[in-house]
Amino acid sequence: MKPIRVGLLGLGVVGGGVWTVLAQNGGEIARRAGRRIEVAAVAVRDVAKARALVGADVAVTTDCMALAQDPDIDIIVELMGGDTVARDCILQAIAQGKHVVTANKALLAVHGNEIFAAAQERGVMVAFEAAVAGGIPIIKAIREGLTANRIQWLAGIINGTTNFILSEMRQRGLPFDAVLAEAQRLGYAEADPTFDIEGVDAAHKLTLLASLAFGIPVQFDKAYIEGISRLASEDIVHAERLGYRIKLLGITRRRPEGIELRVHPALVPDHCLLANVEGAMNAVLVRGDAVGPSLYYGQGAGALPTASAVVADLVDVARLQMADPEHRVPHLAFQPDAMADIPV
Ligand code: NAP
Ligand code: HSE
Repeated sequence: MKPIRVGLLGLGVVGGGVWTVLAQNGGEIARRAGRRIEVAAVAVRDVAKARALVGADVAVTTDCMALAQDPDIDIIVELMGGDTVARDCILQAIAQGKHVVTANKALLAVHGNEIFAAAQERGVMVAFEAAVAGGIPIIKAIREGLTANRIQWLAGIINGTTNFILSEMRQRGLPFDAVLAEAQRLGYAEADPTFDIEGVDAAHKLTLLASLAFGIPVQFDKAYIEGISRLASEDIVHAERLGYRIKLLGITRRRPEGIELRVHPALVPDHCLLANVEGAMNAVLVRGDAVGPSLYYGQGAGALPTASAVVADLVDVARLQMADPEHRVPHLAFQPDAMADIPV
């Protein structure tokens, strides 16, 4: 059977991770997907750097739109980041009838309604497991595992960079700036790390989780957002003396007046599970009316954990394509129950 041909937009931390995972586990992945998944072409800014990684058999270009339009590419995997070129390429790929996998929460939190509507209309999938909580399959858990539940609230540590900073400051007494630089070196931070430290990245992810959990449109502009940049080492030390850990939490819940969406540092009692999530790990606590509380924990950022989620989406797309070669499958985005505005 012909392999699935992927156009990879971006070959940085996550794109490089996807390349590595497909190279390391390609045999097993092909068995599970029913077909081999092959990176046919990549789009980057620095062609020479990409060529050194992928070799001579893979096309390398700076023109990501050309890949979105290429009839020989089956699936576009967008791992560039940003919300301009990435949006144009994804919409173009959808218009061409291609399925899309992306890790770009900043794009989906702001333009998700438009992108999901376009995908719905064209009958293609937009899969984004990697956009929230790195390697934790939280999208799948909410959409599939908890589908019998009315979700009441969820709360989580959904930014690895800030959790790494808070952990290193507390455990090793390191200064904020030095730990942020280390998070950047390890590939955890966003291209613009103010998104991490000001809580914006966590709010992007929370917006997506809320839309799935409550069946509402994506409404990032309704989130209350406060990051960790104004915290001092003394705050962390004093909190610990009082029996608390400071964690940047994303919280969303149903309230009589609407859905609440907020990201801010919180004092978490040190005996709680969330207080003991350290380093770049993430954890999401979800409360459903049938299941009660359930906790999802794992690596929240970095090349291979994030690639694990991207490739899982690729396998899902491959399986659905096998089941229905006409591509007439429901896309993997949320399906709003109601288009009502969210009072926060
Ligand atoms: P990155 O290391 O900065 O890589 C970005 C890649 O995109 C690079 O290969 C870059 O090319 C390419 N690129 C950027 N703009 C381009 C353009 N206009 N045309 C062609 N290529 C372009 O970023 P990353 O950390 O992999 O993150 C990628 C996406 O995944 C982002 O949306 C991010 O939010 C998301 N994400 C990241 C993580 C993580 O842990 N890092 C986790 C979850 C989700 P050059 O290499 O040539 O510059
Ligand atoms: N910058 C993000 C984080 C990457 O630190 O959590 C994973 O989404």
